[in-house]
Amino acid sequence: MVELRIACFGDVVGAPGLRAFAYAAKLLREAGRVDLIIVNGENSKNGSGISPETLKELRRAGGDAITLGDHCFKDRKVCDDLDDPIKPVARPANLSTGARGKHFSRVSMSSEQMERFPPIFVVTVLGRLFMPLPANDPFEAVDREVAAIAALEPRALVIVEVHAEATSEKQAIVWHCARKWAERVVVVFGTHTHVQTADARIVDGVLAAVSDLGMCGGHRGVIGRKIGPVLEMMTNQNPFPYEVADEDVKATGIIVGIDTAARRAETIELVSIAQPG
Ligand SMILES: [Fe+2]
Ligand SMILES: [Fe+2]
Repeated sequence: MVELRIACFGDVVGAPGLRAFAYAAKLLREAGRVDLIIVNGENSKNGSGISPETLKELRRAGGDAITLGDHCFKDRKVCDDLDDPIKPVARPANLSTGARGKHFSRVSMSSEQMERFPPIFVVTVLGRLFMPLPANDPFEAVDREVAAIAALEPRALVIVEVHAEATSEKQAIVWHCARKWAERVVVVFGTHTHVQTADARIVDGVLAAVSDLGMCGGHRGVIGRKIGPVLEMMTNQNPFPYEVADEDVKATGIIVGIDTAARRAETIELVSIAQPG
């Protein structure tokens, strides 16, 4: 039986993305459709990086955990937040050992939720294929961090985010988790491409998976950037500064239903919520 519903939203791109996420989170909460919300904030500061301010905005808008990706250190002022043991935001787990920031975060819950649900943790790993930021083995990182979470909180359930370009790598990590971490990892979702994929599924009756959540931001554009400067750059190599797209603003992601007693995901649905006006 589904006791816990978690919404996961893709990369928030700039101010339009923040507005789209805030609208979607409020809508789902007020309709009683979700208990917890996770969102990727790596593009929340003007389309690249996260700042202490945009982190606060994402939390205020309803994000119970904020995840990151290859743009995690674009604004170094956020590093203190990444180190903070209480704040539900972490850097990708498979960076250099000495890199700033926690390797996983605990999803924030009300005291009433803490009585009803087991602790939920999120781990992000970066892919190694076609990615600009060099990273260590993501499979090894998943094993290390999931084991560390289990040692810390024996009842914990884990959500794994694969922040990667290649769907092959994302699918391989889904199978790795389904085979090795059944009854521990309940969701594996992908981020980074900013395009929602149609492969939401329950894998082997144990975990919910989707290759990419998509993004929160302007969908009339090129992965959240305005069309003109991107075309100018791609066709003429003219280095125009990219601007954040602000038309056709939507928040896309998934809602997952979890049977916390059986320690598995039962349902997954894709969501795409357009911001009116
Ligand atoms: Fe990314
Ligand atoms: Fe992104």
